[in-house]
Parts: sequence; C-alpha cells; structure tokens
Amino acid sequence: MAEIVLRDDHFLVSQTNEKGIIIFANEDFVNIAGYSLSEMIGKQHNVVRHPDMPKAAFKALWDTIQSGKVWTGFVKNRAKNGDFYWVYATIMQTTSFNGEKAYISARRKPNRAEIAEAEALYETMR
Ligand SMILES: Cc1cc2nc3c(=O)[nH]c(=O)nc-3n(C[C@H](O)[C@H](O)[C@H](O)COP(=O)(O)O)c2cc1C
Repeated sequence: MAEIVLRDDHFLVSQTNEKGIIIFANEDFVNIAGYSLSEMIGKQHNVVRHPDMPKAAFKALWDTIQSGKVWTGFVKNRAKNGDFYWVYATIMQTTSFNGEKAYISARRKPNRAEIAEAEALYETMR
C-alpha cells in the first residue's frame, strides 16, 4: 500500500468523547483518511488504526491522557483505501461543546528521520 505524505501545512484535528468515539474531525483529517465527515463521526477512533502500530503504544497514550497529561508521539494510520500516513500527534483532555470530558488530537507532518525512529521503536514493540 502506498504512503500518503502530508504537506507541511496539513494539520489534522479530531476530537473524541471519553470512550474514544469521534465527535469532531476537521477537513484535513477526513480528507487524508479518505472518509466523509458523516462516515467518521460516531466511529471508534481505531477506524484509522494501522495494524503495524503496537498495542502498547495506545495503552501508553490512553494512560497518559486519562491521567490528565499531554501525550505526544508518532502514529502510523491507515486511510480508507488501505494507504498509510504518518503523523506527529499531540493528544490531551478537553471538554466538548456540551461540557463533557473529551479528548483532542492535533497532528502535523513528521520528518523522515522522525518516521524512521518511530518505525524502529515500534518494530521492537510488536
Ligand atoms: C483524541 C484521540 C485521537 C486518537 N487518534 C488516533 C489515531 O489517529 N490513530 C489511531 O490508530 N488511534 C488513535 N487513537 C487511539 C484509539 O482510540 C485506539 O486506542 C487505537 O486506535 C487502538 O485501537 P484499540 O484500542 O481498539 O486497540 C486516538 C485516541 C484519542 C482519544
């Protein structure tokens, strides 16, 4: 499957509820992932999970954000058509429009060195 390389000015944002269900996604996120907004809203965020990502990475992510801290890291995601793309994500707790606890992720393009490092690390975790 082909790699989708982000542009420098791509900025992918999504928001989930406490259970990881997507409640918001911006245009860059839906466009890169290859879904329509209505397909994306209401889905578990693992809809974009790539099988190469180790489970332990997501456990660390959830432990961090549930304890109120900010998680940053590299994530390989899968687009709807099976292509993949790497992001550098910053994920943290926030509140949604109705005042409920929610989480937000903002993602930028990682550089090749960052991707190579993350690939090597995740290889050891699988
Ligand atoms: C705000 C937020 C954004 C997330 N973004 C991603 C993402 O881009 N890709 C991904 O695979 N998992 C993401 N996750 C983690 C998923 O909820 C999920 O834990 C992960 O895909 C692993 O799936 P699993 O828990 O079913 O094993 C995100 C979680 C939160 C709270």
